[in-house]
Order: sequence, then structure tokens, then C-alpha cells
Amino acid sequence: MTKQEEIKRRRTFAIISHPDAGKTTLTEKLLLYGGALQLAGSVRAKKNQRNTTSDWMEIEKERGISISSTVLQFEYEGYVINLLDTPGHRDFSEDTYRVLTAVDSVIMVIDAGKGIEERTRKLFEICRMRGIPIFTFMNKMDRPAINPLELLDELEHDLGLRTFPVTWPLGDGPDFKGVYDRLEKQLHVFSSQAGGASKAAETLTGTDDPRLTELMGPQLLGEWLEQIELLSMAGEEFDEEKIISGELTPVFFGSAINNFGVQLLLNYFVKYGMPPAPRKSSLGLIPVERDDFSGFIFKIQANMDPNHRDSLSFMRVCSGIFEKDMTVHNPRGGKPLRLSYPQKLFGQDRETVETAYPGDIVGLVSHGNFRIGDTLTNIPDLVFNEIPRFPPEVFCYLHNTAPSKYKQFQDGLEQLLNEGVIQYFQMVGTLQKTVLLGAVGQLQFEVVKHRLETEYAAECRLEESPFTEVRWLPLNSDPEDFKGMYLGSNVRLATDNDGQLVLLFPDEWAVNYFAEKNEGIELIKHSPLQGDTI
Ligand code: G4P
Repeated sequence: MTKQEEIKRRRTFAIISHPDAGKTTLTEKLLLYGGALQLAGSVRAKKNQRNTTSDWMEIEKERGISISSTVLQFEYEGYVINLLDTPGHRDFSEDTYRVLTAVDSVIMVIDAGKGIEERTRKLFEICRMRGIPIFTFMNKMDRPAINPLELLDELEHDLGLRTFPVTWPLGDGPDFKGVYDRLEKQLHVFSSQAGGASKAAETLTGTDDPRLTELMGPQLLGEWLEQIELLSMAGEEFDEEKIISGELTPVFFGSAINNFGVQLLLNYFVKYGMPPAPRKSSLGLIPVERDDFSGFIFKIQANMDPNHRDSLSFMRVCSGIFEKDMTVHNPRGGKPLRLSYPQKLFGQDRETVETAYPGDIVGLVSHGNFRIGDTLTNIPDLVFNEIPRFPPEVFCYLHNTAPSKYKQFQDGLEQLLNEGVIQYFQMVGTLQKTVLLGAVGQLQFEVVKHRLETEYAAECRLEESPFTEVRWLPLNSDPEDFKGMYLGSNVRLATDNDGQLVLLFPDEWAVNYFAEKNEGIELIKHSPLQGDTI
């Protein structure tokens, strides 16, 4: 197969949803179709025991939430699918957003009984900002659902996303009889698969099949046929270009747990989903066909496997062909790097990668030499600027409570900073080295504490801080330059992870007051060292 063909058959995507809409269940069913799981239903046989292949961290198991993301690669009908798992909890949005920089399209799962929920909306906004094509799966049709026309209306009016229902449901809840494929003009009759342990048996007939009256009764059937008619008269046209540009979402209805409608989604997804797309860089868009190698790190995860105790940096290949043992440069400086231990992950299992193409994700074993957002390439002066940064919204002190374990505390903290788990501030002018953490969500603090204690044998304590706002001072400012400034009570000068000067404020009012009193001092909402901001 040529390089071009290899690239074209790749589909790199993530599933986004509000917690509980069915992301994990859908992931399992997709893996089942990819032959990656023998019995999808057996993966989460026990309630609240979420040992799915992509869900491994101890804290995740304890809390029953999905915090970290991994990558699942499988083949389906000649396509290579890279499914990037995204954390479900809202406090981990930063991690999710980073994952979205590495995908080419997204499947948005919506609970058809609830419609669009808060977290879906937020994630959708990121997809829209990045112009990511979105496929929508209306899940849980086996339960009472919102009228499908209303669901489309929500997508159109709430999200401003045009819709093309590729499949259309016949009833919902106990009356859910199947879905109609509007492109193929075929009907797929629903048969309940308790536990979804096997691929759903689907019977194909047409809309004029006499069995339909039997199945639905004349009244329901009448209403349903009217809807189909209405859609073809008043609905959008199927338009591949609009799908690719993210303007139009193909919509599918089904029930992930019953494995119904999933294969239709997958078939259309591979057919119309986006092949690897070029990424923005300091040199403009880098075409995927370019021969020189380039990629960027979008996620770092330490201690993924207690048996290995190492750190894996996940790189998206953007151009060229990745080969084991190749040498690349990191424009951040340092010696050329030989990529000797590239890994492909499947949950806990690892496999060595010999070759990877644009769109693929490679896990690189690292020893603290990578940082989130790093570019790895052989193209001079190329830097990818893909990873968005987030100004922290919550702050908390972190104290090392065991002086004899200072080294463990420091090493662990450094690793977590490299992973981008948390942001770090240190007060200027204090003798005591107080660590202030900044995050997008409160739960991130607990993860830091938990990981420092379990993975690094450190001992620590979290303490509330009075700060709620941070502002950066211009790039490479010197504390000396601000000697005369009026700080006010509870406003502190500090440095961030990169040694850049910031001001910490107790509230928005204090920011405004400071600005009034210190005309001429520029306050920046995000680090001047960072790329795009959200
Ligand atoms: P998430 O990853 O988006 O958080 O959702 P997840 O797949 O864990 O699904 C949330 C709950 O919804 C699970 O039930 C799951 O079984 C159920 N579910 C998923 N798809 C469907 C569907 O098509 N129909 C129905 N009726 N339910 C569905 P749970 O009780 O929380 O867990 P479990 O006991 O099933 O493991």
C-alpha cells in the first residue's frame, strides 16, 4: 500500500458526550465491530466496576469516572481506526480539549431521553472552534425519548449545527422498532440484545414492507411515514463538504447497549469521516502528504502501568512516516532525540510500533524530556501551535507534610507539571517555598494529591487559597520593574511554571481596582508564552 493510501484509510476521532450518555458503551460496541473485543457485553459485566479496556487508573476505578485518556487502534473494513478516549468528568476538560487537538473528527453521543446537556455543549464549542466534523449518535432509543424532530431542532437552534438524519427511528422506548436508513432506503428492525453480548441481528426490508403495519400498527406507521416525507421535503440535503467543514452533522439513532444502530454509524463514519487533516504550525499548514516527519505531543501520562513505572508521551503523527529508532528534533532545544521505544497501547497492553502514518498516535517512552505541546520533527523552524491553554479558575495550596520526603514530593510534582495535569505558582519574595496550584476544576487537585501519594510515596496536604483570578504580566517581565506598583491587600506577585510573572487576585473586583490604581501596567488573561487560549 502506498503512503497516500495508508493516510487515506485512517480515521482518528474521539467520542464526546455528557457523562452517562453512553460513551463507554458505544466505545465497547465499536471495538466489538473492529474485532478488538470478543464479547463487548462482558467487558463491564458488573455494575459500577468500570474495567473497560480504556479505563485503568486506580482513582478512576475508585470513583467510577474516566480521568485519563488512552488510544485504541483497530481495523474495520480496510480502515485503520484510532479512537482517542476522552475523560468524562467535567473537571478534566483541559485534558479532553488537548485530545481534541489530535483528532480529525468526533462522534457526539446524546442521550435521546435528555437531549443536549451542559457538557456536550461545551465540548461542542471546542469542536466548532476547531472546525472538527461531528457525527451525532442519539443513544438510548430503547428508553422513552424526546421526539426525534425536537432533537434535531435542538441541534439546529441550540448549537447552530445543521443536521442530516442518516437514520430515522421507528418509535422509542417499548415501541422502538428499528431505524430507517434514509440514504440506502432500508429498514433495520430492532431486536433486543440483552447485555449486547453479540452483534445485533438486523433484518432489512423497505418502507412498503407489509410487516411494517404489523410491527407498528397503522397509526404509528402513518405518523412515521409522514415524518420521513417531511424530512425529505423540508430537511437538509446530504452534503459531504458541509460534513467535512463541520457545518452539517449526520445524525444516527440507536441503542448502544443493545448494539443497535452502531454498525450503521460506523459504516457511514468510515465512509464519510475525515481522513487525517493538516495541522497549523509556525510554517503554516503542514500537508499530511509531506515526506518530512512531524508530530506533536498532546498528552503525557506517567505510571500507566505499575509494572513499568515510566512515562508515556502521546504524539500525533502529522506528516511523513514514523519509524522506530528514527531521530528527530525538538525545537524547544536539546540534542537530537532517537525514538527507540515507540508503543501502541490497547488499555493495559502495549505493543512496539515499527511504522506509523499521519493520523496515528504513537506512545513514546520518556524520562521527563517531553512537555505537552512539544513538536518533534525534521523540518527546520517548524513548531506546532495546536495545544490550547486555559487560565486556571481555581487555586489551592499544596504542602509537603513530610520534610524527609521532599525529593519524592518535588520529583512527583515536576512530572505532573510536565504532564500538564496542573499549573503551578510560586510567590515572589517569600522565603518559604509555598506551592500554589491552579486548575480548571477542583478534582484536579485531588488527583495531584492522590498521585503524589500513591505513585511517588510523597505526603502532602491541600489547603484552600484566597485566590480566584490570575493575570500575567508582559513576557519576561522582571520583578524589579514593578517595585513601585500598588498591590492592595490580598494581591500577590508570583511566578508560573515557566518563571513568568503573574499577579494573583482574590476576585474580579480586585483585578479592576488594581488596573485603576496602576494605569500603564498591562494585565494579560493568559500566559504570553502560550499558544491559542480558550
Ligand atoms: P458514559 O461513558 O457516557 O458515562 O456512559 P456509559 O456508557 O457508562 O453509560 C451510562 C449508563 O447508560 C450505563 O448504565 C449504561 O449501561 C447505560 N446505557 C448506555 N447505552 C444505553 C442504551 O442504549 N440504552 C439504555 N437503556 N441504557 C444505556 P449504568 O446503570 O450506569 O451502568 P451498567 O450497570 O449498565 O454498567
